[in-house]
Amino acid sequence: MPQLTRHPAWTSLQEQIAPALETPIKSLFSDPDRFDKYSLKVQNILLDISRNPINDGVMNLLLQLVREAGIEQWRERMFEGDIINSTEQRAVLHTALRNRSGTPVLVRGKDVMPVIDHELKRIRVFVNAVRKGRWRGHSGKRITDVVNIGIGGSDLGPRMVTQALKPYADDTLRVHFVSNMDGVEIANVLRELNPERVLFVVASKTFTTSETITNAETARNWLMASSFDRRAVAKHFVAVSSNVEAVKAFGIAPENIFQMWDWVGGRFSLWSAIGLPIALYLGFRQFEELLQGAHDMDLHFRNAPLERNAPIWMALTTLWNSTFLGRSSQAILPYDWPLQKFSAYLQQAEMESNGKSVDRDGNPVPYSTGSIIWGQLGIDGQHAFYQYLHQSNTIVPADFIGSIESSTPVQGHHEKLMANFFAQTEALMAGISADDVRRDLTAKGMAADEIERLIPHKVHRGNRPTNTLLLDRLDPRTLGALIALYEHKIFILGVIWDICSFDQWGVELGKTLAKNILPELQSGEIKPDHDDSTRNLMQYFVEKRRQ
Ligand code: F6P
Repeated sequence: MPQLTRHPAWTSLQEQIAPALETPIKSLFSDPDRFDKYSLKVQNILLDISRNPINDGVMNLLLQLVREAGIEQWRERMFEGDIINSTEQRAVLHTALRNRSGTPVLVRGKDVMPVIDHELKRIRVFVNAVRKGRWRGHSGKRITDVVNIGIGGSDLGPRMVTQALKPYADDTLRVHFVSNMDGVEIANVLRELNPERVLFVVASKTFTTSETITNAETARNWLMASSFDRRAVAKHFVAVSSNVEAVKAFGIAPENIFQMWDWVGGRFSLWSAIGLPIALYLGFRQFEELLQGAHDMDLHFRNAPLERNAPIWMALTTLWNSTFLGRSSQAILPYDWPLQKFSAYLQQAEMESNGKSVDRDGNPVPYSTGSIIWGQLGIDGQHAFYQYLHQSNTIVPADFIGSIESSTPVQGHHEKLMANFFAQTEALMAGISADDVRRDLTAKGMAADEIERLIPHKVHRGNRPTNTLLLDRLDPRTLGALIALYEHKIFILGVIWDICSFDQWGVELGKTLAKNILPELQSGEIKPDHDDSTRNLMQYFVEKRRQ
């Protein structure tokens, strides 16, 4: 039997499901201390989990369960560099990348901090050279544009962070991102650029990812078409990878390769040289602030008691809502325009990590794991899918993220934005009853029979769980802490679910099949061994292209 269901707390929690479903969340606020008990301030983030269907008894059982799952031991094993990625035999050390404490971190007996610090120094020197104009293009012109070519974890982190921290950037460099295999994206980016002034960062841990290599080749051809000199590559291409041989074979000089290590997972890698576009765009000092914020959250996760530990709380609310109460999706709703890529970022971080169905020993797990993560900017979402959040039969727990200060204040906007932020979480929990609707419509003078006809449509049953994360402001340090908070949440859930959060075998099969299909599309000879649907669709595709 998988470990989770063997823990005594599991059985006790099962018994709490029915009462939790029957108890309105707002009734839990009869406890006058509820807000104080279920909110905490960590760094510049106020986290409020009080609007979840969790009473003190359930919380104690959830804490018991996470202890029984061995979170304290697993946490130490992760921070200490143990081989906890068991299917790939690797350590998991994104925390070492932002370790600002000067303490050693041993992997198989060897301290990894010197190589991390060395690489950080290289990043600093390179970033300063580009930003100050000491590093120039092949024709001697200053670099004005950086194009990151990567996908998944080699794209989403730097893309999300550079957008989120745009108010902290100066005009030294512009950044662009190309991830998609569809040539439309790279064509659109290149159209605006001057080849003499571009720096391409080819970011790929494996340097085998087909989307990235295809885009990098297109970029190199584009550069060659204007310069006709292969030596130009040395001044316009750098790479971030752990596959040095493949990068060299591509034609990028060894001194232009920034190192990654097998103990950095792609979706946890923005703290490594994968964050190079962040440092180039914002300057190295701001990148360090980001690292510091994440490190501060690491210290909190490692040292705060589980009872008042923000990542633990985030994980337990998701665990309760999803695995026990069956709410399988979770919306991420920032009310901070710069965070517009945050839900896409978390989608990979959570779903690639915890979308698993076997435990660490390979046995099927009989409970649901990883949530479906989705969302977008909350205020835009209000005019798109909030109808569903408020009145559909499916309950979607949601994280609301907002800031006290806007990072770009514009007279009269922020209070209006935040009025919506507070209103939505209140409405999602409290709803509006038939009596309230009746009272309201009566006061407006509506006829009684019309009121009765409308009541079922206007009632909001409420009782929809939300977490609120209220930031002082979205600065580099706070963003670092926010990302680390979610990273640890993902880790904790993986420990409780007893799954391996740090591999991603599920993305391999499609990649392998695509590799086999490509020559068939190129030659037009479709093999008979596909299923009927695939074969007919491919046939239709090649015939249409021949016409
Ligand atoms: O989507 C699968 C994946 O392996 C991710 O885990 C990773 O972030 C992405 O592809 C890119 O991989 P790479 O950095 O090796 O190109």
